[in-house]
Amino acid sequence: MAHAPTDSDYIVITPDPPLKPAPAILTTPTAMRRWRAAHPGPLGLVPTMGYLHEGHIDLVHRARRENMHVVVSIFVNPTQFGPNEDFEKYPRDEVRDLNLLRDAEVDAVYLPSAAEMYPRGFQTYVSVEDVTQPLEGASRPGHFRGVTTVVLKLFNATGPDRAYFGKKDAQQLRVIQRMTRDLDLGVEIVPCEIVREPDGLAMSSRNVYLTPAQRAAAPVLKQALEHARNLWNSGVRDAETLRRAVRSQIEGEPLAEIEYISLAEDATLRELDGPAAGAALLSLVVRFGHTRLLDNVELR
Ligand code: PAF
Repeated sequence: MAHAPTDSDYIVITPDPPLKPAPAILTTPTAMRRWRAAHPGPLGLVPTMGYLHEGHIDLVHRARRENMHVVVSIFVNPTQFGPNEDFEKYPRDEVRDLNLLRDAEVDAVYLPSAAEMYPRGFQTYVSVEDVTQPLEGASRPGHFRGVTTVVLKLFNATGPDRAYFGKKDAQQLRVIQRMTRDLDLGVEIVPCEIVREPDGLAMSSRNVYLTPAQRAAAPVLKQALEHARNLWNSGVRDAETLRRAVRSQIEGEPLAEIEYISLAEDATLRELDGPAAGAALLSLVVRFGHTRLLDNVELR
């Protein structure tokens, strides 16, 4: 027969370090806004499409240091993928992501469904003009309209004081800064340094697509950018000389197929001809098989 429990039936274990509380998970804009209303004080948002890597966790740590509350959004946003892009096969692993976010002491995860974000009849988009035209905008028509629309919706639902974006997506960062200024969103956009693997490859959720041979070849991007940075530091300013230096180094790698190499004015992303007068962004997209890798270096 069962006996009534007494103190000697329990062992009290105090975990050291203490277990971290799981973040709240909010799946609708209404639930997210209610949570925000109940949590006043500075809030940092880290917008992601999930399949988190150390680059994302670095953004989360910075947000943790600088804010009372940290929210991470995970949403693979269909409107920023073109019809022949990798939306369906974009890597996803929610359970792993949520464990990483609990360990990083995130307060809430915003995890809306596509139906919540884009209800039937959806027809309102945000378009940023000039800075979306070159580079990724030219290669991926409609991409930035999808990004700005979803980022504005994420801001509306989460009410951040600061939002954290990696510098690897250099054009995305500039587009979001422009939108935030132009629409008086009152959110501080915090640019964060690129996080790299030990061999120099910039971290990206898409790196999992690389075959072992492509993965071994991919650090050529960082090496080529580093070469250009050394030229810049030694006084070279001519745009074509810098582009050509990067191109010839990458062309030495047979698995790499260059999509574009750009040297542009840092703020506007207008392509430079002749000598760079001020700060410039050297950015590139190189394909390894079907995988597009982006990387860049700021030249100041
Ligand atoms: O950089 C990304 O992961 C996405 O473009 C973003 C900003 C989360 C919008 O979907």
